[in-house]
Amino acid sequence: MTFSRILGTGSYVPEKILSNTDIEHLVDTSDSWIRERTGIRRRHVVDERESTVDLAERAARAALDAAGLDPREIDLIVVGTTTPDRIYPATACRLQARLGAGGYPAFDVQAVCTGFIYALGVADRFMRTGSARHALVIGADTHSRLLDWSDRGTCILFGDGAGAVVLGVDDVPGILSTHLHADGNYEDLLYVEGGVPRGNGVIAEGNAYTKMRGNEVFKVAVRTLHRIVDETLAANALQKSDIDWLIPHQANIRIIEATARKLGLPMERVVVTIDEHGNTSAASVPLAFDVAVRDGRIKRGDNLLLEAFGGGFTWGSALIRY
Ligand code: ACO
Repeated sequence: MTFSRILGTGSYVPEKILSNTDIEHLVDTSDSWIRERTGIRRRHVVDERESTVDLAERAARAALDAAGLDPREIDLIVVGTTTPDRIYPATACRLQARLGAGGYPAFDVQAVCTGFIYALGVADRFMRTGSARHALVIGADTHSRLLDWSDRGTCILFGDGAGAVVLGVDDVPGILSTHLHADGNYEDLLYVEGGVPRGNGVIAEGNAYTKMRGNEVFKVAVRTLHRIVDETLAANALQKSDIDWLIPHQANIRIIEATARKLGLPMERVVVTIDEHGNTSAASVPLAFDVAVRDGRIKRGDNLLLEAFGGGFTWGSALIRY
């Protein structure tokens, strides 16, 4: 049997920082409300010159360095993103060109905040079937570009960033399982209206702002993530106590705490970056992953549970023996 395992991780966040106090000047909110209700203290945002592929490239190169691989050894790129620079080509294709390569498959998957987990699930299936030997899997988003800076229900939540992993084939499983789900019936709770032009050449019909009924999304997210924890443990015949680290999507500290309680994990075993990064959409899980690998918390052999929930609705998890 062929499996995939993680050879290296990388991440990048833009230099520009927006604190809660900065946002107090834009909408009727307060630093204390944002910290208490979400856990966020600041977020990094792109400037006018930066784009999603810039962030993806930085994270990809860091992951390649960590894996000790040359970009020419990669034979698959999958990017989870909802904020591609262009309608096409895909961010993955633009990245492939920047890495000085071509010929092998490179494509984006759009599953909003679950984008990285979807990308990982797809890449793992390529590796298991012998269709790729070294994959770059990335979550990258510039969600700040989809925000209405007069809507306090959304503009406080999001930041920009990218996270990447390099996968290599192995006889021993690193990725034990991935679980991907969607339910398109919840569109009204979380969406961006704008889409491709309707033949008139005008970009973004409607507007391109994130619209969210936060409180309702919150309740579904908590319920759904509880279910996926059970599903993931059962699929691997593991107990809660077998999990060394939870690497959750960083949407709200209260959602993260609820999932940790479900797993019986103390918060010291949960990777939390929401205070520094906010919700970076598809980047949030691989960004948190890389932070905890680089600061030495996550060690080879640890069992990691990754999970995410987002627009679509989409949700998913991955169980990894690092
Ligand atoms: N500052 C101050 N007050 C605020 C703010 C703010 N930024 N935002 C809302 N409020 C007020 C509301 O107006 C409301 O006031 P009222 O009681 O006078 O009517 C009160 O605070 C409570 O509002 P709720 O919406 O119930 O607040 P809640 O505790 O649910 O927090 C939040 C809102 C942070 C958005 C939360 O619901 C949340 O995190 N939801 C989930 C987000 C999520 O997981 N999204 C999925 C991933 S994102 C993606 O895929 C793109």
